[in-house]
Amino acid sequence: MNKKWWKEVVVYQIYPRSFKDSNGDGIGDLQGIIEKLDYLTELGIDVLWLSPIYKSPNDDNGYDIADYQAIMDEFGTMEDFDRLLTKAHQRGLRIIMDLVINHTSDEHPWFIESRSSGDNPKRDYYIWRPPINGKEPNNWLSRFSGSAWEWDQKTGEYYLHLFSKKQPDLNWRNPRVKEEIFAIIKWWLDKGIDGFRMDVINLIGKAEGLHDSVRPGSSERWANQPLTHQILREMNQELLSKYDIMTIGETPFVNPEIGSLYVRKEREELNMIFHFEHVALPDLSGENLLKFKHIQQKWYSLINNQGWLSQYLANHDQPRPVSKYGDDREYHQQSAKLLATMLLTLPGTPFIYQGEEIGMTNVAFQAIEDYNDIRMLNQYKEEVGRGSKPAEVFKKLQPLSRDNSRTPMQWDDTANAGFTTGTPWLGVNPNYREINVRAARAKADSILHYYQQLISFRKNNWPLIYGDYIPLLEEDTRVYCYLRKYQAQLILVVLNFSGEEVSVSPELAIPLAGFKPLFGNYSLPKSCVKIDTICLLPYEARVYSS
Ligand code: GLC
Ligand code: CA
Repeated sequence: MNKKWWKEVVVYQIYPRSFKDSNGDGIGDLQGIIEKLDYLTELGIDVLWLSPIYKSPNDDNGYDIADYQAIMDEFGTMEDFDRLLTKAHQRGLRIIMDLVINHTSDEHPWFIESRSSGDNPKRDYYIWRPPINGKEPNNWLSRFSGSAWEWDQKTGEYYLHLFSKKQPDLNWRNPRVKEEIFAIIKWWLDKGIDGFRMDVINLIGKAEGLHDSVRPGSSERWANQPLTHQILREMNQELLSKYDIMTIGETPFVNPEIGSLYVRKEREELNMIFHFEHVALPDLSGENLLKFKHIQQKWYSLINNQGWLSQYLANHDQPRPVSKYGDDREYHQQSAKLLATMLLTLPGTPFIYQGEEIGMTNVAFQAIEDYNDIRMLNQYKEEVGRGSKPAEVFKKLQPLSRDNSRTPMQWDDTANAGFTTGTPWLGVNPNYREINVRAARAKADSILHYYQQLISFRKNNWPLIYGDYIPLLEEDTRVYCYLRKYQAQLILVVLNFSGEEVSVSPELAIPLAGFKPLFGNYSLPKSCVKIDTICLLPYEARVYSS
């Protein structure tokens, strides 16, 4: 196996708006991240991924960029960024940036020019079309509700926006767009950053002709197009390959066959991608656990040796994993640690999302007005507009809201969880008095300390990084069990995804007695009467080594 630093690292995602506010305006900022570098170093992570910090009107919290080479006013200045990068590097922490190049903000100067007249030189930077029979040029839908086309009165045409109408899609068929964006990428790389997470990168190329989709919501005309692969290859060959960096593409709408096209080494596109097959499952119990195992197995067998996998359970778009996949009430500690054990022992580079390491949970605000997530708000408006009962729509959308993961980081039990001295831009989860970093630091067996230990354990155990992945007990609907094997060393992982006691007898080439328990989320492995049987408590996780 070809060794690379980005295969060996643990990545931590920061959503800067919600991480740490240093000046009391209620919004997290770069100085806040600098103040927490010691905390991050202590945790043992190697790479920080920053969600967008560029100048933005924040229609979609920074995923709508108005200037790629300036820092968002609320987050600080370019000097702050340079200081952050230097200080991170001094500690051996690398930084990867979010690269959002499917669309810009409608307040980006390119778009302001583009919409100013039909013959503006920048008109073709975006995707403009005249109406067809007085209507939208095709049936495509926005990911954030409604048509993907917005009418522009002044020039009498529609522009395409796969996300909000303040996020017009760039026209990647225009070579000038490519030149401009490549220059921006180079500018950031020359600053010394360590790579990119590329936002919805598999959507950048749209199919020639912009014909109707098979179904209004389906993606086959704008996801995974040949043009996208062509651009990624050029980007890699002309730019990325000249630097020692890591790249990971966010790619919804891919299965392993399609996904592998982005990461197979010889194709020279990306190092890894984030797929969505596993997070599409509503939970990890019973049949869904089987599906989850199957997804892991499929991705592993298709990508292994040809490319590299990523592992994640959480990010700024997903609900909190302990609430979705675990039990955030009775077994909060145990199930959060169970998920940590899995994340850090499955094949692929693991990504931890801020707050996951202390078991932060979903939130249930009182009213729709308490929410900020544009995807949720648009969907609410649309469904209520169609006549659904507001209370019912609200209840349905709550557990899916992206704000579940965007509530401020819970640092301590003082006002606003120690996130800000002002009024936070989004409410703090009321459980911050129990769930917070200070409390976790003080408690020897906290979720936080468990993450710390696991992260360092992973780094010292090559089977977990470069080892083969061998699934066991594949038909068990309660226990997820697998081996990681590197040369002669075996690591056995056993995870009870149920709230009940379970015993299992995995079939192993060497008897279970030959393995020693190394790690777990309960203090002592309960000994079993029968040899070669493992008895597990509710949500128990155990790691053995041969
Ligand atoms: C990605 C981001 C999400 C954003 C969308 C549009 O999915 O993760 O937060 O809203 O792209 O940029
Ligand atoms: Ca601030």
